[in-house]
Amino acid sequence: MFKPLRLSIRSFSIVSKLNSSYTHVPRKTIADIHELYQSNTPITVSTSHDYITSKMVDAADIDIALVGDSLANTTLGYQDTNELTLDEMLYHIKSVQRGNEKSLIVADLPFGSFEKSTEQATESAIKIIQSGKIQAVKIEGGNEENLSIIKKLVSIGIPVMGHTGLTPQKHNTMGGYKLQGRDSKSALQIYKECLNLQKSGVFAIVLECIPNKIAQFITNNLKIPTIGIGAGPHCSGQVLVISDLLGMKNPEENHIAKFVKPYANFYNLGVEGLKNYKKDVNQKNFPLADEHGYKVKKEVFEEFKKEAETL
Ligand code: KIV
Repeated sequence: MFKPLRLSIRSFSIVSKLNSSYTHVPRKTIADIHELYQSNTPITVSTSHDYITSKMVDAADIDIALVGDSLANTTLGYQDTNELTLDEMLYHIKSVQRGNEKSLIVADLPFGSFEKSTEQATESAIKIIQSGKIQAVKIEGGNEENLSIIKKLVSIGIPVMGHTGLTPQKHNTMGGYKLQGRDSKSALQIYKECLNLQKSGVFAIVLECIPNKIAQFITNNLKIPTIGIGAGPHCSGQVLVISDLLGMKNPEENHIAKFVKPYANFYNLGVEGLKNYKKDVNQKNFPLADEHGYKVKKEVFEEFKKEAETL
């Protein structure tokens, strides 16, 4: 399934070795991701949108932490990803960066921050790489304009992750969040985009919501890793949005996509915890004086009381 990489990509391993020798905790590099790919080890990717989820992603030793623009419609409660601004994204990138020492951190260039020109895209990418202290950016779509942007970013040393299939930033033109590549023409279009993205220098491509066999064909015919979400088991790695992965959203109010597997039930656990807290406070079972409180020396209290009573 996986093919050996060309020499240009292999040379990244030199950077990897150097990196681990001078940093306290070695953070994964693009070279490490390609080593996983070459050794057929599935690459794990999870989004994280803040310091707390970032700490969890780091503790679980996830290979890539993606500050995806799903931040908008999950953590921030916006209607869709297109409401998110670059500054909001940067604020969250910084919190993720502070919480994660080991994963390669990649962040989305949000809608409106890169489409106008290569200059705009370069400025936005430099801003989040420089202030956010992350390692790479992700750009949705493989149209001609994006390819020029990607080539420019790669040429100035910014690694880029591609993203095709369902690209939520274009949900208005796609007519919603639907399976892509269902007919041979659109599947071929996705494959062509992948070949073009690979040629433009992306280090990996997210394949979102496409049939298993199309993703398998694409994965087998590329020389870079594919990261699937709703793209079946044959991709080089998998990504899930952390609120889906940990069951953070109310299942009664949110549609859970077929491709999601929740590995925890944070929402129900959280609501149960909060209800128990409310009950304890109402019934004066929390806080308990000895268990949760602090003592003051008898003589200190007597002196305080004596003074206080004169006020
Ligand atoms: O924004 C995001 O979380 C993403 C993943 C779904 C790949 O792009």
